[in-house]
Amino acid sequence: MDLKEKIRVIEDFPKVGISFKDITTILDDGEAFKYTIDSLIDLVKDEKIDIVVGPEARGFLLGAPIAYALGIGFIPVRKPGKLPGDTLRYEYALEYGNDALEIHKDAIKPGQRVLIVDDLLATGGTIASVAKLVEQLGGEVVAMNFVVELTGLKGRDKLEGYKVNSLVQYE
Ligand code: PRP
Repeated sequence: MDLKEKIRVIEDFPKVGISFKDITTILDDGEAFKYTIDSLIDLVKDEKIDIVVGPEARGFLLGAPIAYALGIGFIPVRKPGKLPGDTLRYEYALEYGNDALEIHKDAIKPGQRVLIVDDLLATGGTIASVAKLVEQLGGEVVAMNFVVELTGLKGRDKLEGYKVNSLVQYE
């Protein structure tokens, strides 16, 4: 299947100059959704994975079905103040200001092998932060799987040392 054909590109969203890669057109197409989840799993078929971690919001939509299919657990990484239990927070710099992500402290057991999943790799800031949280809890990041990679933003460079996989690339 040509997955690129299933991704809707919307110009000037959320602001002028941004060419938004919309994966809702994969999610609402049963065949494309199944193909995407199966392909993301296939990228790590030779690895032993203990748990899947995905960031809010679109990482949930892909990470949870992957975990379900593998018969393992899923851990959400969320924006501050959303998780009810004891959390670990990681703050990271944006172009203007800061942002932060949180994970439940007891979600990962030391030594667990973690697959990180998200819809899109842009600058890599989000996923680098997710990896930091996983590692601070003693998890080992086995791979980072994305549907879309925006190669021009060089997120891969920020993720040196990790196994980074994407199904569809845009410049
Ligand atoms: C988008 C996307 C990734 C992240 C990628 O999420 O779903 O999680 O940005 O960008 P980066 O590689 O430059 O960090 P967004 O921040 O829009 O959050 P949302 O999914 O909750 O809308």
